[in-house]
Amino acid sequence: MDKNRLSKTLSVALNIQITKEAHASQIYLSYASWAASQGFGGIANFLFRHAQEERNHMMKILEYILKRCGDAHITAIPAPPENPATIHSCFEKVFEHEVDNTKSVYKLVKMSFEEEDWATWNFMQWFVKEQVEEETLAINLIDKLKMAGGEKASSYALYSFDRDLEKASDKSISAQDVTTENP
Ligand code: FEO
Repeated sequence: MDKNRLSKTLSVALNIQITKEAHASQIYLSYASWAASQGFGGIANFLFRHAQEERNHMMKILEYILKRCGDAHITAIPAPPENPATIHSCFEKVFEHEVDNTKSVYKLVKMSFEEEDWATWNFMQWFVKEQVEEETLAINLIDKLKMAGGEKASSYALYSFDRDLEKASDKSISAQDVTTENP
């Protein structure tokens, strides 16, 4: 008896999402390293923590596929894009990546709805909510940077922004503590 509870189509799409979350993690890691090299320790710390969150998202999907007795395939991760030129463009790019990921999440929601795979549809609702939070976070940071002068922000304004992010709460937990309920 075949125990696999995922259709071939959904299985492929979920595996693509695993790579997408891993790619998002690499992007945050790359931007964090860039920010650290520019002397922005608070921004770097924020981005490093977010890299870990994206990895946790990847783990959550992997765990779900295995739970449904589906086929999980770990593939190569595309290289992250070029470094941003400024802190402002760094967060604009972060927002663009998040919107792109949201589109991919919506595609999975639509596919699971059309297949009437309610388990996967329900599972994906967590990601829908998470994307709203992540987009909102990026928008709020871009708004703050705009107030600080955007591309023309002074060194002092960027210093304050960096210090604020240093104090931002740490949502991320270590990978070994990740479960489906606590990603
Ligand atoms: Fe896992 Fe930022 O999406």
